[in-house]
Amino acid sequence: MRVAVTGGLGRIGRAVGAELAAHGHETVPVDVAPMRAQEPGYRRADLRELWQAVDALDGVDAVVHLAATGVPDSHTLHSDLAEGATFTANTTSTYNVFQAAAVHGVKRVVWASSETVLGPPFRIGGPTHLPLDEDHPVRPETSYALSKATGEGLAHHFAHCHAMTLVALRFSVVMDRTDYAALPEYWARPERGRWNLWSYVDLDDVAMSCRLALTADVEGATALMIAAPDTLSDRPTAELLETLGEGAKLTTRPLGAFESLQCSAKARELLGRRPARSWRDAYAG
Ligand SMILES: NC(=O)c1ccc[n+]([C@@H]2O[C@H](COP(=O)([O-])OP(=O)(O)OC[C@H]3O[C@@H](n4cnc5c(N)ncnc54)[C@H](O)[C@@H]3O)[C@@H](O)[C@H]2O)c1
Repeated sequence: MRVAVTGGLGRIGRAVGAELAAHGHETVPVDVAPMRAQEPGYRRADLRELWQAVDALDGVDAVVHLAATGVPDSHTLHSDLAEGATFTANTTSTYNVFQAAAVHGVKRVVWASSETVLGPPFRIGGPTHLPLDEDHPVRPETSYALSKATGEGLAHHFAHCHAMTLVALRFSVVMDRTDYAALPEYWARPERGRWNLWSYVDLDDVAMSCRLALTADVEGATALMIAAPDTLSDRPTAELLETLGEGAKLTTRPLGAFESLQCSAKARELLGRRPARSWRDAYAG
């Protein structure tokens, strides 16, 4: 399969490119960044422009759309200009990528949504139930999160009007082996992880999820939680729940000792996704 990977020069884009290549796919990295290294098939495009998106997706069989700007940074919550720019850039790029795929008759788009559509950092309201799952209401609190939630809405339109399949992967915070070295510092201040319920997902797992979603037996617009099965904390989940005040009362089922407060069971079922790595492997020696 010939797969365009937007944001292909970014952190996740590079991992997805490597994962697809390792499984026999041809990848076409698409990014606004100047090419830093020799990247086979690279197409430079600013996806905020529809015509550039249309040119960039010419001749591909499927798209992994990762290009985006901004992070769910609480510092920008009341900075209207930064918020507006993030929302406009991400929403426009996502619309353009979906529309360009429709123009070319591309029927499968896998794209990066975010855990933040469900409320993290929970500064305005807490979760309605735990663990977070696809049944939780969509309640974005930042314009980064709002851009992702809007993208999920756009996906329903393209599925309905163009008979496309669009799989939104709601990634938790993406970590890799180098990040795990800093965990003792994170453990020393457990309140640091509270904003996203101490969740994370390993970069290799993210890349595998993108690959599996390209061929998964799904139709229409689907959104899936993509988190590691365990938390990033060294403290038991029951202890973390206590720090959330009413947290323990919100649980819908008994949880494992270090089980994540974000549930990816639907992704396991639909993608056949089996998380490859936990931070615990890095510490197991
Ligand atoms: N990293 C995380 O923890 C995390 C968590 C949840 C969701 N996501 C989402 O995953 C995706 C990839 O994240 P990442 O960590 O690899 O980010 P990144 O910043 O490393 O990469 C994003 C890439 O998109 C490109 N890009 C930005 N605007 C563009 C535009 N207008 N046209 C073309 N290219 C453009 C950038 O040049 C960059 O190479 C994003 O959509 C992000 O919102 C990331």
